[in-house]
Amino acid sequence: MFASTASIFSNPWNANVSLAGGVAHGGTQKGWFSRATEMFQAGIWPWFGTSDDAMEDLMPLGRTSLTSRPTDADNGSGAPSPEPGGARDIPFYHLPVLLNEVLDVLQPEPGKLIFDGTLGGGGHTEAILQKGARVVAMDQDDEALRHATERLKGYADRFCALKGNFRDFPTVLGEAGISGLDGMLIDIGVSSRHLDAPERGFSFNKEGPLDMRMDTSGPITAADIVNTYPQEELERILKVYGEEPQARKIARAIVQARGREAFRTTLQLANLISSVCPKFSKRHPATLTFQALRIETNQELAVLEDFLKAAPRWLKPGGRLAVITFHSLEDRIVKHTFQQQSQVWLDRPEWPAPRPNPDCVYKLLFRKPLEASEGELSLNPRARSARLRGVERLSS
Ligand SMILES: C[S@@+](CC[C@H](N)C(=O)[O-])C[C@H]1O[C@@H](n2cnc3c(N)ncnc32)[C@H](O)[C@@H]1O
Repeated sequence: MFASTASIFSNPWNANVSLAGGVAHGGTQKGWFSRATEMFQAGIWPWFGTSDDAMEDLMPLGRTSLTSRPTDADNGSGAPSPEPGGARDIPFYHLPVLLNEVLDVLQPEPGKLIFDGTLGGGGHTEAILQKGARVVAMDQDDEALRHATERLKGYADRFCALKGNFRDFPTVLGEAGISGLDGMLIDIGVSSRHLDAPERGFSFNKEGPLDMRMDTSGPITAADIVNTYPQEELERILKVYGEEPQARKIARAIVQARGREAFRTTLQLANLISSVCPKFSKRHPATLTFQALRIETNQELAVLEDFLKAAPRWLKPGGRLAVITFHSLEDRIVKHTFQQQSQVWLDRPEWPAPRPNPDCVYKLLFRKPLEASEGELSLNPRARSARLRGVERLSS
């Protein structure tokens, strides 16, 4: 069962949260959580009402339950929970990467409000909640929201999940009356669940619709891209987003093949790519094309840039931002943005002296990104390309 609205209404989240709008609807000052609840009741977040039956359809069978949830002793007092009471019967969804490192950066504790823009399976959020902080989370994927809400129902008094793209977080949090965050996290890309579920169309190994949308109400699928984009545009996407050396050859083959029959499934595309690009390494020849199509379908680089631009205004002085990326294109964007926003002085050869950087809002917490340890990799090989960067908001 999901957290009841009664338990949500009875929570005292107003404390320490400043209201973006000051006075809420109807002239009564309310905390953001109760305003968020009103929005939910108005039907804006229908996933809140999902039944247990729907959960059964979510997960692949035969996977070990890796999740843990709060013990009954967690009374929502804001104090750190005792050790979790052991894994419960929630099917596997996603294993959070760089978990201890994220906690080191965000330093969650009672009284702090943390934003998790990529809730996913709820692993990072759960660890933050276990430290006593409050979490407002977002995900654009209904399945992730259903799963994590069920997993985290024991924290309903300190946890709220909102549907949406983290690119739109200023609007979503603003409408819920939230401002002034102590920490922000995004752990971008797809979850293990996305890759494991053939029907989502992310995997070149499993037959499924060529979809790849994280938000299944999104305007464009991967099939739309391969069936309609001009050849030059396909080539550009494969080159830029996939760094695919065979971009031209693959784009040409796609355009020829779609003249005979439109692409509908993942294996249709993967097999075509295998037929024109022989396999030289362990990597499947369609790997980079699938990465490129996923990025284009979900506009992943553009949403990351928008998020990074907006984040500083939402962090309190001393508040921290942690970003986990999974490929070099994303990491480059994060690295350059953080560098620009943490450089105290700017200098140019034509200037007589260095000038203060008006965009300096952060202190870099570490220069090189953090990567998964051998121990983590042995448990979770998918963490091998994860990179974590972190910054702290300056006071002015
Ligand atoms: C790598 S998983 C996050 C896993 C999560 N940290 C955990 O511990 O389980 C990425 C999640 O972020 C979501 N996501 C990716 N890009 C997003 C975006 N722009 N806005 C909202 N959610 C996004 C995906 O739907 C997916 O559920």
